[in-house]
Amino acid sequence: MEHTRAKWGSNFGFLMAAIGSAVGLGNIWGFPYKMGANGGFAFLLLYLLLAAFVGFAVMLGELALGRKSGRGPVGTYALLSKRFKWVGWMGVLSGFFIMAFYTVLGGYCIKYMVLNIGDMFGAGFGSGAFADAGALFGAFITNPLEGVIYTVIFLAITMVIVMGGIKGGIENFSKIAMPALFVMLVITIIRSVTLPGAVEGLIFMFKPNFKPIQENFMQVLAVAGGQMFFSLSLGMGCMMTYGSYLSKKENLEKNSILIIVADTIVAILAGVAVLPAAFALGGEGAAMAGPSLLFVTLQNVFGAMGAIGPFFGFLFYLLVLIAAVTSAISLVEVATTFFLDRAELKGKKNASRKKYTLLVSIVMLALATIVAVDGLGSNGLPTPLGLIWIDFFDLWSEGVMMPLGAMLMALFIGYEYRVKKVENGVTMDGMLLEGEVTESGYRFRSRGFFDVCCKVIVPIAMAFILLVQIDGFFGLGIF
Ligand code: PHE
Repeated sequence: MEHTRAKWGSNFGFLMAAIGSAVGLGNIWGFPYKMGANGGFAFLLLYLLLAAFVGFAVMLGELALGRKSGRGPVGTYALLSKRFKWVGWMGVLSGFFIMAFYTVLGGYCIKYMVLNIGDMFGAGFGSGAFADAGALFGAFITNPLEGVIYTVIFLAITMVIVMGGIKGGIENFSKIAMPALFVMLVITIIRSVTLPGAVEGLIFMFKPNFKPIQENFMQVLAVAGGQMFFSLSLGMGCMMTYGSYLSKKENLEKNSILIIVADTIVAILAGVAVLPAAFALGGEGAAMAGPSLLFVTLQNVFGAMGAIGPFFGFLFYLLVLIAAVTSAISLVEVATTFFLDRAELKGKKNASRKKYTLLVSIVMLALATIVAVDGLGSNGLPTPLGLIWIDFFDLWSEGVMMPLGAMLMALFIGYEYRVKKVENGVTMDGMLLEGEVTESGYRFRSRGFFDVCCKVIVPIAMAFILLVQIDGFFGLGIF
């Protein structure tokens, strides 16, 4: 049965899709600011250590398990373990929660592209009527209908790509979009670092400052760990899903490293693109994390650039949009794959990818509508657990379910499934055809390291991250 599964057309295509999943809003607005606020270069070192000792093992584990089973997270765990069966479900649920806010923010990018086009031509739908970008953003988020409309547009783009299938949709789109994103990023960097006052932003980001780490190591560790997980799309079965469509010939260790390195480089480059511009205009106060950095500070920068501003604004929001779309398609794919796997298991002959993708998208839209109408808490909706809706969905997915998912996968591999079998997943699966004993020639070089990571390092690191989250949330004051 397994050989009938759709496949990526090439390893390059797989890499573009996987890097596309990893590179997203997390890189562009999360990383630069968190790095600057938590110790600059010192934070980067910690991040790299976490990526090496935690991220690599989780990435490799997910790709190997997915490829081994040829299924998404629910199917993989159902096939391999009774005890861990529910972990797959948690992954799919995380995907829905992330999409609940991701689509809304993706929609904001489209809105800002439209705005900048308006400004290029001095049209009425530009930003002209507003005193500054703050007023503009405020008016936008307090208009629930507009928020929902742009969310629908973003989700529709995502849905159409996923409907095109693994190779015809996701891979073909990513193969063009990711290199394009890179070029746009370079152009943005050149503009940003040549603005007067830009150096301050670079200093904020890179200057080594061990104080935050000395003063509150646990907090910084949790920030770096959470960021790494979200940024690498780990802990919810996304890479498992993408791995399940990968040919058994490909080298998983090499791919894992390439995805992590590429994602980290783009995160750093995004900082070099965003922070100098933010500082050039407003100093550190303006370089806030999250939506206000992207949609207020930077839009102000474009507004202050004169005639060329709207052009750079359009280019920048297009860049962010592409990053968001290639991540969103991977999130939709996790849920779509779940339905396709289930249909295959039930022996359904006429399972339709398009139908499942539509179904998944409709449910995601329902959740996202809440976040869109909430407008970052500005429209008076009830606050679950005292949080605005975007933070609520973010807390449960990024804050809880993803680290938990990663921890449980590591424990599963380390103590139940055992590394021996993953070794088969990495090397023996290199067999070209069923029954043929020719190995693809890759040795599982990191086997000992991977084993220690799964058994000890990943579970401990994840347990700490979860504890810090719970501590912070309930205000226990342990750390
Ligand atoms: N990695 C994406 C980002 O950095 C978010 C994401 C998380 C995508 C989990 C897929 C799965 O924005």
